[in-house]
Amino acid sequence: MKITVVGVGAVGATCADNIARKELATELVLLDIKEGLAEGKAQDMMQTAALLGFDTRISGSTNDYSKTAGSSVVVITSGIPRKPGMSREELIGTNAGIVKNVSTNILKHSPNAIIIVISNPMDTMTYLALQATGLPKNRVIGMGGTLDSSRFKYQLSQHLGCSPADLNALVIGGHGDKTMIPLIRHATWNSAPVSQFLSEEQQQKIVADTMVGGATLTKLIGTSAWYAPGASGAALVEAIVRDEKKLFTCCVSLDGEYGQKDICIGVPVIIGKNGWEKIIPFELNEAEQTAFNNSADAVRKMNDVLKTL
Ligand code: 2OP
Repeated sequence: MKITVVGVGAVGATCADNIARKELATELVLLDIKEGLAEGKAQDMMQTAALLGFDTRISGSTNDYSKTAGSSVVVITSGIPRKPGMSREELIGTNAGIVKNVSTNILKHSPNAIIIVISNPMDTMTYLALQATGLPKNRVIGMGGTLDSSRFKYQLSQHLGCSPADLNALVIGGHGDKTMIPLIRHATWNSAPVSQFLSEEQQQKIVADTMVGGATLTKLIGTSAWYAPGASGAALVEAIVRDEKKLFTCCVSLDGEYGQKDICIGVPVIIGKNGWEKIIPFELNEAEQTAFNNSADAVRKMNDVLKTL
């Protein structure tokens, strides 16, 4: 199994590091446009192999897509990250051209690949990658909701004093500070609704803190976060290569599901060897469906910007 990560800034490199440690691939290719960066990070990671005991062969390439040929899964992290105070949406002008170029180059050398998009604004970049490659929709997956759901579990665990791994909680909608929808009504601690343990104010705070999870870190760190985004990408790669049939929120192309079409946005899906294999229809109440529709409107507005570039 060969896997490629395109863009080896902090998010791409962390994703690759997770993929190697978990031995998800026999061959892992890192590709970046910056001369020597992918080669250097590949060597650095390979020099952990003896210490960590993994057998994945990692190599790097400066923009030579022929090295990525025959990849089964490709993670795209290319593009600029946001700076403090910036929204993910402000990145569209720069990142759209990059993601279009990367995804078409990938397709030329790996026509059977499943593509995972991490670049921001992630919903629009997923939509763009799907259009630019013309791939079957199940093979283009945006990562955002997986990350947002993990951040939601973190926030819940802080208030509940529990292990994040004991929680079931999903964030649907767009991967934006104002467009994501943490589904707190559906969240459970093992199987008990979290509302049994949390006041209304606590629940509101958890939802609000989850929504600005990325922005909070950008402010603290000075650039976009990478540990959780990288681990989220690797978790999706793992679900694909191990055919896990795990449920994640991912940004996928909708054709009437959740009342939307001609859009890529976060909904619960099953991830397995074919990419996203099934959309799971959670029952939303009126407020949740309205929030989802508003989120879709905002994502669609961002998609419209693609036409003006
Ligand atoms: C984040 O939320 C990178 O969009 C990503 O941190």
